[in-house]
Amino acid sequence: MSNGSNGSNGSDGIESRLKEDRRFSPPTPFTFRARLKTAAEYERLYKQSLEEAETFWREQTTDLVFQRPFDKFREWLLPHAKFFVGAKLNITESCLDRHLTTDARTRAAIVWEGEPGETRTLTYFELHREVVRFAARLADLGVKPGDRVAIYMGMLPETAVAMLACARLGATHSVVFGGFSAEALRDRINDCEAKVLITQDGAWRRGNVVPLKKMADDAVAQSPTIERVVVYRRMTHELAPVTMKEGRDIWWDDLLTHTPSEEALARAKKPEGFDAEHPLFILYTSGSTGKPKGVLHTTAGYLAGVHVTSKYVFDLKPSDLYWCTADVGWVTGHSYIVYGPLSNGASCLVYEGAPNFPDPGRFWQMIERHGVTILYTAPTAIRAFIRWGDDWPNKYDLSSLRLLGSVGEPINPEAWIWYQRVIGKERCPIVDTWWQTETGSIMLTTLPGTHATKPGSTGKPFFGVHIDVVKDAGKSCDANEGGKLIIREPWPAMARTLYRDDARFKSAYWEQMPGVYFTGDGARRDQDGYFWVVGRIDDVLNVAGHRIGTAEIESALVSHPAVAEAAAVGKPDELKGQALVVFVTLKSGQTADEKMKKALGEHIDREIGKFARPDQVRFADALPKTRSGKIMRRLLRDVAAGVTEARGDTSTLEDLSVLAKLRGDEE
Ligand code: WTA
Repeated sequence: MSNGSNGSNGSDGIESRLKEDRRFSPPTPFTFRARLKTAAEYERLYKQSLEEAETFWREQTTDLVFQRPFDKFREWLLPHAKFFVGAKLNITESCLDRHLTTDARTRAAIVWEGEPGETRTLTYFELHREVVRFAARLADLGVKPGDRVAIYMGMLPETAVAMLACARLGATHSVVFGGFSAEALRDRINDCEAKVLITQDGAWRRGNVVPLKKMADDAVAQSPTIERVVVYRRMTHELAPVTMKEGRDIWWDDLLTHTPSEEALARAKKPEGFDAEHPLFILYTSGSTGKPKGVLHTTAGYLAGVHVTSKYVFDLKPSDLYWCTADVGWVTGHSYIVYGPLSNGASCLVYEGAPNFPDPGRFWQMIERHGVTILYTAPTAIRAFIRWGDDWPNKYDLSSLRLLGSVGEPINPEAWIWYQRVIGKERCPIVDTWWQTETGSIMLTTLPGTHATKPGSTGKPFFGVHIDVVKDAGKSCDANEGGKLIIREPWPAMARTLYRDDARFKSAYWEQMPGVYFTGDGARRDQDGYFWVVGRIDDVLNVAGHRIGTAEIESALVSHPAVAEAAAVGKPDELKGQALVVFVTLKSGQTADEKMKKALGEHIDREIGKFARPDQVRFADALPKTRSGKIMRRLLRDVAAGVTEARGDTSTLEDLSVLAKLRGDEE
């Protein structure tokens, strides 16, 4: 493990964030209509959420559907928390059924646009109908409460239908991002022993077809637990030819033509209420070892967390069209495309493709055409838009926007100001939301209409969040003193464990600083109580908003027959926040050349996915190590960032051992 900060975001990153002292009051017209209007209201609710947590959460969740109320609000036996103990609910009743008796019935739940430009709208009535239809057929395929179902799809309304249908039956979904390779999909399916896989023939990405079913076939060939594969047809046979395996594979549309059994239909129509702690989903994410972590979320607490945050952070109203540009394969898609907005009866735009297809004006054209009011996106996208030039957004009418959001990595003040000026026309507040796959819901943010914003700061703790910046001993840091970001008390939407690896759940989060949750991030809190998150201080990188474990990359690299040893580090990158640089030592007899670099890049594509391909492969004759044999990552980070020059024949092999000697043996 390394402990120097490797979180950064471009050349104007940390330093400019340290100097930043601009603040912007919430725009008056926004505040006028906002759900919360004053900092005093926030303070009152925040105080209540900590001191009378039960009352707070009871009052804030009265619009959710519980088949049986809770007996006890919280049980906390470190590191295991339970919330809404004794309650029974089916999460889909809060997301769908409850809207059928209100104005939301005919409101758009999902407005979808495909990359080629076609659109489809599903009202709450229609989304409910589709979920019931599909759930009934899944039940007939043998999906039972507690079974795991893997979902490997792109951004389609059907992806949400698949997730909700699983939840309706009490099956635990595990969505695997469509950018992951067949190998990565296989490992995730095998880890959770999924019984059914739901996929699609192909997905559009920048004008190309990503052959999801083909990759799914390769994965399933080595996934003994998969009994059935349901395939949604997005393409034509010409665009994405697929082979259907008799007895295993079935087209989504054909499945819907089957008449469901009475029992299955009953389970889909009148859904069972599950225990508050019933597992809702597993989502794999990167940690500091080579093996991804199966973060497990349960039902009632997660629902409460995403419901309440969606309501206050995005100030959702029936008149809004809300657009979260994340992929549903990451936690942001789970919490803020599916469960949070739908439980609030919001209308969500879902877009299938790339932001620059057919040209870099695509997002802005969509905002104009659909009348998007809330945009939630990532700093890496914002930085790409800046690079593509203001002419693109300036061509379109963005006056429907009233609120902007940012998530996934630290936003540098320059990008923040551009977002506010060029996209928000200084009319829209910006919420910079900090959270993680493990936290389930937003933890740090400003509330629009309530708080002043500071470019680069993630604002204040959300309700119920007891968060702090500490030194190693657990003592709170002084104002503006940098330290580790920790959370002192459990919160409803927190991950309950790592799937079948509770020991790692304890050691990864709860033992580094005994008794508190360690986020893996470094931060400081300023004199006004605003948090500034610096980035990861563990061996996790944040490359273009994707969380990538250095150990995962390293173990993928050493699985290549030519590689003896490898070290992956991050390097500040203007566009991606961090770029991935790998140092590789080859086995003797192997040649360090461009061909080998290409082969190693392709190897990562296959083992993990294209999004994890290193930006730079550098060969070294040996990796610098401490006396106890630990790779000196801090030194490698400096070399990667160009702070320290490597000596030797840098065109091919770098002699890093010389450097290590110059530096002395750091432990
Ligand atoms: C980083 C994404 C600064 C952070 C929701 C965290 C952020 C990791 C922000 C979690 C933000 C997320 N400002 N850093 N607003 N949001 N991060 O699990 O390092 O994919 O630990 O969840 O992203 O990434 P994950």
